[in-house]
Amino acid sequence: MINDMESILLTEEELQQRIAQMGREISRDYEGKEPLFIGVLKGCFVFMADLMRQVTIPCGVDFMVVSSYGKSTNTTGAVEIIKDLSQDVYGRHLVIVEDILDTGITLSYLTKYLKNRSPASVSIATLLDKPERRRAEVAAKYVGFTVPDAFVVGYGLDYAEKYRNLPYIGILKPEIYE
Ligand code: PRP
Repeated sequence: MINDMESILLTEEELQQRIAQMGREISRDYEGKEPLFIGVLKGCFVFMADLMRQVTIPCGVDFMVVSSYGKSTNTTGAVEIIKDLSQDVYGRHLVIVEDILDTGITLSYLTKYLKNRSPASVSIATLLDKPERRRAEVAAKYVGFTVPDAFVVGYGLDYAEKYRNLPYIGILKPEIYE
């Protein structure tokens, strides 16, 4: 699979170092609050597994599956909830965990959706942020890395469902997706 990469954007070591910092920061900020981490599948699964092991305070974990319609054409921000949470979040401190914040459509929708259920708070932890692509306003409290507008894969992120298992984040060669 490495032959499909134009370059390595973030090595395994860089990812792990930054995620350890994020885990420490979140643990400090949520001390005594027993936060509920909400992973947005599928992309989050590798990052979330590593992040959770760097969180040192009591917490809960849950998952959602969502699908954004026609990212390139749709400006209404319609997002379909395919799998919802399996618990009540009233009065809880929620941290949404994402692999990438791109147009912002998914996270702006999800934030509103969850706030409607009267949690104590909602924040976002994203491994990657691609601010150049933003179309919906979203404020992520925890950002691992700000990345350029390139086709990134690996560490949970896919192209046509491939490359999610790479331990690093690479930039895909254009000939693979063109
Ligand atoms: C990716 C990512 C986010 C979303 C971000 O998911 O995991 O959920 O896109 O994009 P946005 O900011 O433009 O809304 P994707 O739909 O590719 O599904 P996946 O997680 O199953 O890979």
